[in-house]
Amino acid sequence: MLIGIPKEIEEGEKRVALTPETAEHLIGLGFELELEKNAGAAANFSDEAYAKVGVQLVEDPRHLWRTADIIIKVRPPQPHPELGFNGIELLKEGQTLISFIYPAQNPRMLQRLAEHGVSAIAMDAVPRISRAQKLDALSSMANIAGYRAVIEAAQHFGRFFTGQVTAAGRIPPAKVLVIGAGVAGLAAIGAAKSMGAVVRAFDTRPEVKEQVESLNAEFLMLDFGDDEGGGEGGYAKTMSPEFIKAEMDLFASQSADVDIIITTALIPGKPAPELITERMVANMKPGSVIVDLAAEAGGNCKLTERNKVVVKHDVTIIGYTDLPSRLAAQSSQLLATNLRHLIAEMCPEKDGTIVIDMDDEVIRGCTVVKDGEITWPPPAPRISLAPSEDIDTEAVEDLSRKEPEPAHPLAFLVPLVLAGIGLFGLGLVAPPDFMGHLIVFVLSCFVGYMVIWGVSHSLHTPLMSVTNAISSIIVIGALMQVSTPSTLGVLLATVAIFITSINIVGGFAVTQRMLRMFRK
Ligand code: NAI
Repeated sequence: MLIGIPKEIEEGEKRVALTPETAEHLIGLGFELELEKNAGAAANFSDEAYAKVGVQLVEDPRHLWRTADIIIKVRPPQPHPELGFNGIELLKEGQTLISFIYPAQNPRMLQRLAEHGVSAIAMDAVPRISRAQKLDALSSMANIAGYRAVIEAAQHFGRFFTGQVTAAGRIPPAKVLVIGAGVAGLAAIGAAKSMGAVVRAFDTRPEVKEQVESLNAEFLMLDFGDDEGGGEGGYAKTMSPEFIKAEMDLFASQSADVDIIITTALIPGKPAPELITERMVANMKPGSVIVDLAAEAGGNCKLTERNKVVVKHDVTIIGYTDLPSRLAAQSSQLLATNLRHLIAEMCPEKDGTIVIDMDDEVIRGCTVVKDGEITWPPPAPRISLAPSEDIDTEAVEDLSRKEPEPAHPLAFLVPLVLAGIGLFGLGLVAPPDFMGHLIVFVLSCFVGYMVIWGVSHSLHTPLMSVTNAISSIIVIGALMQVSTPSTLGVLLATVAIFITSINIVGGFAVTQRMLRMFRK
């Protein structure tokens, strides 16, 4: 199949959906690639670099939209500012478009894609489940946006981030408050921390506390009983008005103390909650900075102006919605890698063709139009700790219809008798010690198998850590040796007890912590 990559036409958009590196991988999967000339220039990927790995360069983007089997790009299709055409109008049956589409905000576009009989895959609709992480373009972009938000803040903030003691006096570190510790928030915390700032963070989901603390930032807690913010599909849920009021009280007191606020609070598909009021902005120290990452969805700050930097009450408020594009080489590289993984996922035979498998939860999740039929929204992702219930109902019905062959009442004895005869024969020739060990070995295999078989796959990681703790049963051997007359023996046994105790306590503590992550 031929993949076409047109140049991005949105004003100021510097990203490109293909890099020379990902091009090599796609060619390796059997695809042919055609790229519009200069498509990668703004992200520092030259036409020569693409041509070197075997990408064909074309002048006219209309040719790509008409002839490519798959179109990959960054932004949703839009009218071409110079040539005046909209790519969607040139698409026809059998073609597939892969890009950011924002289906919830663009129902009309879905309709038009469906009318043209094409398939469309929205990179922004990849479900946030662990198997889909390598395709998760939203997370890749949010990571970059979080980092870039700190850089933008640093540029507008008139002081150091890090504290210093100099001959000219003591400089206190900047204080940064990050609201919303999702992907962008965590990236912002990491970047601000590495620049030496004192960082605090707040999120409605208390489970992110550990992630925030692992970055050496302080997590601001609101004790609000059961109103916890964890929602479906790895995103937050809308909070009660009482909760929002309590958190705004917290921000009111914080705003007077911190120098920089980076807000990333958002629930997908909903307008951003307004968390920073004009009064809070006025309360901030002169020269402070607010970076509002939620500007696209209305902003978390009352005074944010979309795509603008404004100064109000002596506070700079940054409302850029193109932060990933401001690190174009990096974001193109990550996005192109996400796209490449998606295409590889849909090309299991590595034969240069894609199959849109609607039984695959990830592919189903991001396919918004399939062969002219709108398939958005997808069913909610299944996240279950219970053993899989994917039972083939037809097969079950078939089985229930079949008359089972009546088994002989003593049939179960056959394997037992055979095993007994085998053991007896072995016992005649093997030394007595060997038989003892063999029976213990067989029984432990049986017990181990029975224990692990009953545990759901999703709990295998905590199972491993608890098994690790239990394996420290060798502490009993050390305890028995600790009273031996030999000094060396006592010493070794003491060391063994010490080390295995760490293993036992650590193993159980880690298991406990992991299990807490699974509890609602
Ligand atoms: P995410 O869903 O991973 O994180 C959002 C976080 O906000 C979640 O942890 C959620 O619990 C939290 N949150 C929701 N409501 C809250 C509230 N009332 N108070 C405190 N926390 C709350 O989203 P991600 O991927 O980190 O993106 C964050 C924001 O950055 C989004 O608004 C996204 O659109 C935006 N973004 C902006 C870009 C730009 O160029 N400006 C680029 C990429 C993302």
